[in-house]
Amino acid sequence: MKHINPIIHMTNDCNLGCKYCYTGSAFYDLSKLDQVNKRFVELLPVLYRLFDQLMEYNENQNTKVTFHGGEPLLITVTNWRKMLDYIKSKNFYITPTIQTNGTLINDDYLKLFKEYNFEIGVSLDGTKELNDITRPLKNGKSSFPIVYKGILQLKEHSLKFGVLVTLNKTNLNEIETLYGFFKERDIPFSIRPIFQTQYIKDDIFQLSPEEYGKAFCKLFDIWFDDENANISLINEFTSLIAQFVNPIEGLVSCNFTMKCSEHFIAFDLNGEVSPCNRFYGAKEFIYGNILDQTLEELLNSPVAKPLSKRWDVLANGECCSCEMQEYCFGGCPADSYSLKGDYFAKDYYCESYKMIFHHVNNRIQAVLKK
Ligand SMILES: C[S@@+](CC[C@H](N)C(=O)[O-])C[C@H]1O[C@@H](n2cnc3c(N)ncnc32)[C@H](O)[C@@H]1O
Ligand code: SF4
Ligand code: SF4
Repeated sequence: MKHINPIIHMTNDCNLGCKYCYTGSAFYDLSKLDQVNKRFVELLPVLYRLFDQLMEYNENQNTKVTFHGGEPLLITVTNWRKMLDYIKSKNFYITPTIQTNGTLINDDYLKLFKEYNFEIGVSLDGTKELNDITRPLKNGKSSFPIVYKGILQLKEHSLKFGVLVTLNKTNLNEIETLYGFFKERDIPFSIRPIFQTQYIKDDIFQLSPEEYGKAFCKLFDIWFDDENANISLINEFTSLIAQFVNPIEGLVSCNFTMKCSEHFIAFDLNGEVSPCNRFYGAKEFIYGNILDQTLEELLNSPVAKPLSKRWDVLANGECCSCEMQEYCFGGCPADSYSLKGDYFAKDYYCESYKMIFHHVNNRIQAVLKK
């Protein structure tokens, strides 16, 4: 089905100094907030052009739009409202989703999230001790209490949210601690593995496929064997189990989609379109600019077109004899690109996925046979 979910890069500025950040936002001084917002307002017409084209392309079917960055909450509530009011005035059927560092949540944002039914992802790498190693404020101080306060506010207001933990060398061996921390507080969460970027000095955070696979399986087992676990504590696991009952492409996450480039785009406020936010800064992946071309033309550009052949290449090549094809489709091309330098190679985390799919399947089969 013809359908695009855009990821919008609201700003490249950020108030945190995360040591692994792939957008580079951590490594630049924060611009003055009035400048960040002035630029946003100036570029609103570009964003409106995207929404118009997008909803025409999607025939106004429900569309998930993810607001990303940098830190998207550096944009003021007043300016968020300008954009959301436009969407409302056009009756566009859009579900807004935001990925935030959670430090700037306040009553006005909570009201906005409620009013527009936002789905919210907050990044936190675990307990104070763990999180502050990788996600400090720009001045190096602890970000934990501020982020945690934001998470509690989302919970108190019964908003749809989940925490995203970036699994890396520093929290890899703390799986029990991570589980206990989120379970005790009834905070839904999921884990994503780190990927190397030009901004990470040395090999201090990167995981091997085996390390990631084992850590994921360990977390799965703790949750699966915990009789008191809330089923929605780790939603991804519930989807993973559902996947083995009835494989649905892309159910678990975007990296298991056969042709993700046909369903996702990243959009920079200057109008540039590329396959995914994970390719931020990689000039060779820019399809073109929405100010010069229609979305349909951009998706058929000489840069975009060949990307949708990735699964054909892998199904006849590296992945041809894999039993997990129908669940994995070669994994995430951004992992292949950032860790192997080749969009068309199978995912760097291939061995992790094989381990995970086998493990989860075995656990389900064992229960069914009882
Ligand atoms: C780039 S941030 C932008 C949104 C917001 N500032 C935040 O931190 O959630 C989006 C997500 O990417 C993750 N991320 C950043 N650099 C990464 C890397 N090198 N590997 C894996 N995930 C990374 C962050 O931890 C965060 O969860
Ligand atoms: S909060 Fe997000 S954008 Fe900012 S430095 Fe951390 S990961 Fe990067
Ligand atoms: S598990 Fe590995 S070999 Fe199998 S489809 Fe995924 S990337 Fe390809």
